[in-house]
Amino acid sequence: MPTDSHDRNPRVLVFDSGVGGLSVVAEIQRQLPGCDLIYASDNAAFPYGTKSEATLIERVDVVLHRLLAREAVDIIVVACNSASTLALPAIRARFSQPIVGVVPAIKPAAALSSTRVIGLLATPGTIARQYTRDLIREFASDCEVISLGSSELVQMAEQHLRAQPLAPGALARILAPLHSHPRGAEMDTLVLACTHFPLLRQELRDVLGETVRLVDSGEAIARRVQHWLATLPLSAGARPVHHEAWFTRDTSEVRALAPALARFGIQDLSVEPVPFADSNNSCIN
Ligand code: DGL
Repeated sequence: MPTDSHDRNPRVLVFDSGVGGLSVVAEIQRQLPGCDLIYASDNAAFPYGTKSEATLIERVDVVLHRLLAREAVDIIVVACNSASTLALPAIRARFSQPIVGVVPAIKPAAALSSTRVIGLLATPGTIARQYTRDLIREFASDCEVISLGSSELVQMAEQHLRAQPLAPGALARILAPLHSHPRGAEMDTLVLACTHFPLLRQELRDVLGETVRLVDSGEAIARRVQHWLATLPLSAGARPVHHEAWFTRDTSEVRALAPALARFGIQDLSVEPVPFADSNNSCIN
């Protein structure tokens, strides 16, 4: 943890495979405008939602160690359901900072649903996790949970942030299994259990209509960050805020993201190379 002057803003690292964590950044900025944010995207190993569990646990550990060797931070936000539903215990055991993870908002969705039919939209990895199954058993055992895993939707959110148009009809095609489920017409709540998906909130709404409530974890994560901030001897807003983004691989996509990052107040972009050798470890389709 940084030991320098207390007369500085808290430094929060927000980490994801790609741009998804920006949906969490937006909530942190809304609730906690005085924090300095370091947005870290492990774009060298993107996407996370199709990686084997062993690969992902090791990768997150390697990347976080590399990033934290570059600069100390006060709080780490793992703004990725695919990583949090798997690797939080390992991360907490390895780092001294408070770690805030993001997991599918099944509990609030179940509390909100009147029809007791909820959808769960996530990466294939998050859908397959034991952690996710346990959440459903614990908090939504009286609900029909219609699960849909899509990595294509993650790619579409990346494209959208790079201002590339989405293929017409693609979103409706991806979401079709929610509707064709025998109880799909009764679904009144949909959990966006991948941080990329709130970045397509309006587009999802256009396909799903107004009757399906979209629930994500962004607001709860920001509240959790606030809880930890209160334990630090730092005052948010002590200095003008500074936000920056780090990527693990230099690509043309990184430069194409600059305008979107600027909309989140992130002007400073840099690359901290952490090569990823994909040795046949994409085992979930
Ligand atoms: N945004 C991440 C999540 O919440 C990861 C998506 C991916 O890289 O597949 O699951």
